[in-house]
Amino acid sequence: MTGAGSFRLDVYLAGERKRVDQALRRAMERYGALLSPHLAPVAGDSLLSGGKRLRPILCVAAFRACGRVARRPAPPPADLPVGIYEVAASIEMIHAYSLMHDDLPCMDDAPLRRGAPTAHTVHGEVATMRAGLALIPLAALHCWEAAGRLGLGRRRRRRLVSTLMRAASARGMVGGQAADLLAEGRELSKGELDTLHRMKTGALLRASVCLGAVAASAEPDAVAALDAYGRAIGLAFQIADDVLDATADAERIGKEPSDAALGKSTYVRFLGVEAARDEARQVAAGGLGALRRAGIDSAELDALARYAASRDR
Ligand code: IPE
Ligand code: IPE
Ligand code: MG
Ligand code: MG
Ligand code: MG
Repeated sequence: MTGAGSFRLDVYLAGERKRVDQALRRAMERYGALLSPHLAPVAGDSLLSGGKRLRPILCVAAFRACGRVARRPAPPPADLPVGIYEVAASIEMIHAYSLMHDDLPCMDDAPLRRGAPTAHTVHGEVATMRAGLALIPLAALHCWEAAGRLGLGRRRRRRLVSTLMRAASARGMVGGQAADLLAEGRELSKGELDTLHRMKTGALLRASVCLGAVAASAEPDAVAALDAYGRAIGLAFQIADDVLDATADAERIGKEPSDAALGKSTYVRFLGVEAARDEARQVAAGGLGALRRAGIDSAELDALARYAASRDR
């Protein structure tokens, strides 16, 4: 898969995933002791079990795009301080917890995640619920300390943790997840569906981009443009998820399609598959427009926006 020009998205993503995985393993070594001994393996299994790692990759790409380090074509981003991957890892901790809970019987009741049995089917519901919750303070602590190691001052560090926790909050991911359950079997307006998707999935993706920009000490105009980009691809990503749920099989996406059976409110239900696909592309293109207007030129962010909207898994 290639993105703009000679940029090799597949090579870039593989390299970045490796660095993110290394940062996650370091984080578990550092903070695993803060989890009780029976919860550490449960959280560790979910955190280190693969996945696209798109949120941390976006964070690093935004950091890089802000010019804290010289811009040059990726890969390899060997010039990046390791610390930005540490900050980025804190977002994946929240994401991992959100998936553990999303799959529980009281939510989507899913048997499969990333091609393997879901956490609660292996470890039980109570341990999965508790290990997921235990990742939240770990993410906040890790974000704070990693930002310190990156050399950021207290004001910027507070802003990073606050951005991450707000995205995870009832005004963000958790609120969206609650709305998603309440909307099962209901017809939502386009506005309601947008809000739901922007909260349950968009908030964390948007925060990922913002964390990178804030960690890079970007100017307010650049932060605003990256925020608009993150907001757009956050929505595009969930529209694409709706399309995959309706069109792909478990072998490809590593999870059982279930939106129709659960009566979920999705873009596919609202628009149909083809129009939903178009909508995802258009929304992502809007995000790229925001970057262009701000003069932010990043092959990575360009390719990631297209990927978020048109991914095949
Ligand atoms: C799945 O997220 C949950 C949604 C927000 C749609 P991802 O598609 O990023 O899952 P992984 O991390 O790659 O497995
Ligand atoms: C999940 O949305 C959003 C989260 C916050 C985890 P979905 O329920 O559509 O995600 P999948 O399809 O199970 O990955
Ligand atoms: Mg769900
Ligand atoms: Mg689900
Ligand atoms: Mg889904």
